[in-house]
Amino acid sequence: MALEKVLATIDKNLDRSLERLFALLRIESVSTDPAYARNCRAAAEWLAKELQEIGLDAGVRDTKGHPMVVAHTRTAGAGPHVLFYGHYDVQPADPVALWQTPAFEPQLKEVAGRKVIVGRGSADDKGQLMTFVEAVRAFVETEGAAPLKITIMLEGEEETGSPSLAPFLEANKKELQADVALVCDTDMWNDTTPAITTMLRGLMLEEVIVKAADRDLHSGLFGGAAINPIRVLGRVIASVHDGDGRIVIPGFYDGAGELDAEIKSQWKSLDFSESKFLGEIGLSVPAGEKGRHVLEQLWSRPTCDVNGIIGGYTGTGSKTVIPAQASAKFSFRLVGRQNPEAIRDAFREFVRKQLPADCEVEFISHGASPALQLPLASPYLKKARDALAEEWGKPAVLKGSGGSIPIVGNFKRDLGMDSLLIGFGVDDDRIHSPNEKYNLSSFHKGARSWARLLDALRS
Ligand code: BES
Ligand code: MN
Ligand code: MN
Repeated sequence: MALEKVLATIDKNLDRSLERLFALLRIESVSTDPAYARNCRAAAEWLAKELQEIGLDAGVRDTKGHPMVVAHTRTAGAGPHVLFYGHYDVQPADPVALWQTPAFEPQLKEVAGRKVIVGRGSADDKGQLMTFVEAVRAFVETEGAAPLKITIMLEGEEETGSPSLAPFLEANKKELQADVALVCDTDMWNDTTPAITTMLRGLMLEEVIVKAADRDLHSGLFGGAAINPIRVLGRVIASVHDGDGRIVIPGFYDGAGELDAEIKSQWKSLDFSESKFLGEIGLSVPAGEKGRHVLEQLWSRPTCDVNGIIGGYTGTGSKTVIPAQASAKFSFRLVGRQNPEAIRDAFREFVRKQLPADCEVEFISHGASPALQLPLASPYLKKARDALAEEWGKPAVLKGSGGSIPIVGNFKRDLGMDSLLIGFGVDDDRIHSPNEKYNLSSFHKGARSWARLLDALRS
């Protein structure tokens, strides 16, 4: 059978696939820090070359930020036209001292009886995107061509909210339009159980700067009479939630919807333990909306979190000061049809209304993207479930995910395309943290899974 030959090619070439992945992992493509801009370009160029080598028409495309890699197969092939998306940028290695081996010197290690690929980006997202590239390579090597009409788009700004992607999509709509998007940037249910993520939360990021006096003040000479912006900001932060963990910003839950009964009962049947989930991170009591199951809190309910607070003296020792300003970085995870722009406006209004005399507020937006929901009736979903079940020997779990991939909302909104989110990460991959790893079995069976799905799509 044709597919068996492709799978055998993947198996036979595993060592060389790993060498290719390691070469990509050595490139320090940290997107958030301008000091690494050259490395981001180097990663894009490395990938374009890789895709050219397997016969695709590939190039590096400039944007205002880090470049995009776009590649097309040269032959039409049978079946639908698919757009594969992944990101080559990675999070900073910080805190560097906590890495057991250097972040950008990838290694194959054995940890608790499992072979794992260790290095920044191994799971998020270089190892994952390479599972797809390796699957395409195996078709080309075995059959002389890719199995379908495939467009590959790899971006370098996912970890900073994809600021250049929407304009790029808009400007290249015709070229990027496909029947369905395939995305490899999510996780499995566990090490041995595959999953398809059918619900993904959106994200709205907002920085709030509260300003009061026109300079920092001695807190003895002015304290009592001078308003302290940290206190004002603290009050604002504390006012977002009520005692039951609900967000009280007017209109916030508009469009959030309720989980449909089919998905709810399916999630209930998943083997998930709240106490184990929380216990593993040293916690015990769910902190989300009262009366909601933890999976619901994570996958289908919106949140507001403060990711950082800045203000006043934060150095060693003490300093008696009333600062001139204080700021906080807010992030809102969104679900259903919640409108990120409307929520941004409502939040700003909510903050402004609470400002006392002599205070001003400034807002900085760090991006906004809607949530995603894959219709359960999608014909691609069925083929993906079958392909994954074949490879892993058990049915794929349909799950939600609390994380966000800013662009998938735009695929739907701007190109009218659904996205199939299939990834092979696992909970303990430590993405964004020191000692990030990717299971070797995820890398290997991930490539095999894509080969099976591509084969199923063409027939
Ligand atoms: N790949 C992750 C998101 C993810 C991880 C989804 C695991 C599902 C399962 C992505 O690279 C990520 O980190 N997204 C950020 C977006 C932000 C930086 C704009 C997030 O969710 O915080
Ligand atoms: Mn990612
Ligand atoms: Mn990430």
